[in-house]
Amino acid sequence: MTNRPRVALVTGATQGLGLALLEGLAERLGAGDIVYATGRDRDGLARITAGLADSGAEVRGEFFDVADPDRAEELAAALTRRHRGVDIVFNNAVMRVGPDDDPRAVVDHYAEVNNFGTTRVLRAFAPRLRDGGRLVVVTSALGTLSYLAPVLHGRFDGLATLDDVDRSVAAWRDAVRDGSAFAGPWPAFVNIPSKIGQVAAVRTLARQRRADDLPRDVLIAAVCPGMMNTPTSQAWWDVSDAPTPERAARSRCPFVRRDGAVRRLLRCGAGQDRQRTDSAVLPKPHVQVVTIWMPSEQVVPEDRTPGQIHEKLRGREPLT
Ligand SMILES: NC(=O)c1ccc[n+]([C@@H]2O[C@H](COP(=O)([O-])OP(=O)(O)OC[C@H]3O[C@@H](n4cnc5c(N)ncnc54)[C@H](OP(=O)(O)O)[C@@H]3O)[C@@H](O)[C@H]2O)c1
Repeated sequence: MTNRPRVALVTGATQGLGLALLEGLAERLGAGDIVYATGRDRDGLARITAGLADSGAEVRGEFFDVADPDRAEELAAALTRRHRGVDIVFNNAVMRVGPDDDPRAVVDHYAEVNNFGTTRVLRAFAPRLRDGGRLVVVTSALGTLSYLAPVLHGRFDGLATLDDVDRSVAAWRDAVRDGSAFAGPWPAFVNIPSKIGQVAAVRTLARQRRADDLPRDVLIAAVCPGMMNTPTSQAWWDVSDAPTPERAARSRCPFVRRDGAVRRLLRCGAGQDRQRTDSAVLPKPHVQVVTIWMPSEQVVPEDRTPGQIHEKLRGREPLT
């Protein structure tokens, strides 16, 4: 691998885990490297880049609303013109929903940001990854098929193309919007199918690209963090005992290291709790589709299981 300067990008970098990942990259990467902080809050981006002006890498701000259908492609093309490609991309942005939001009212934008936004980033940036590149989608510990009724697994498992993934997500979204999802087997917590859809997108693309990516040491992966202490989770639970985004971002998975990163990723992946994984995790040597669980405290506590979230939601407001 060469020592040429590297170009990294984080979506949703204005707060929470995205900001922590940005700060981590700015610190770990070195002189000559560039890290793009992206988001939809121009003032916030300006403040963040100014605050990181003394970092190892240069930090630049770029407006990137992932709900904009054209912006991922525009930005990826612009970075390719500027730098001839990209080395590290963290697809992290998420639309926040709270317990008082009506899933039927928010699901369109939710799927647009979290799911179609993700597949647009995958389509735009994966072909522009340089040798040794990493494209990491931040999903969730809730993003595995074990949280979905078995009758629904086929909707997300073994899909051939990103278009198939988008179609499955759109079908779920439509069912949430018209309320039929909640009369059937879908979980009430929209986060679960959405995160499973993100993992499915990663697995699908990684599988398609595997033969070309392996010799180039290109890795496309989903990371599945457990509960973190951010305003998103604070809206739902007492997360005072959960790790901060900074701690979660200091994961033992060294995505940005030049050497042996894939080997270490595999070791990290092998440390995951197999009981809690399902076909969202493929065994070695399918490195491009490994789903990595961030370390230690990543098991969802008893009182926060999807089943209980489901019941809580149903108790609060009948959705049928
Ligand atoms: N928090 C947890 O416990 C937890 C657990 C598991 C997984 N995760 C995952 O970790 C990731 C980060 O979560 P978080 O808790 O750090 O979230 P957060 O604090 O709510 O931050 C979300 C970020 O996404 C940005 N964003 C929202 N809509 C956007 C859009 N349309 N275009 C571009 N950026 C947009 C927000 O920007 P604005 O500042 O403009 O709103 C913000 O910077 C997400 O993928 C989440 O699902 C979180």
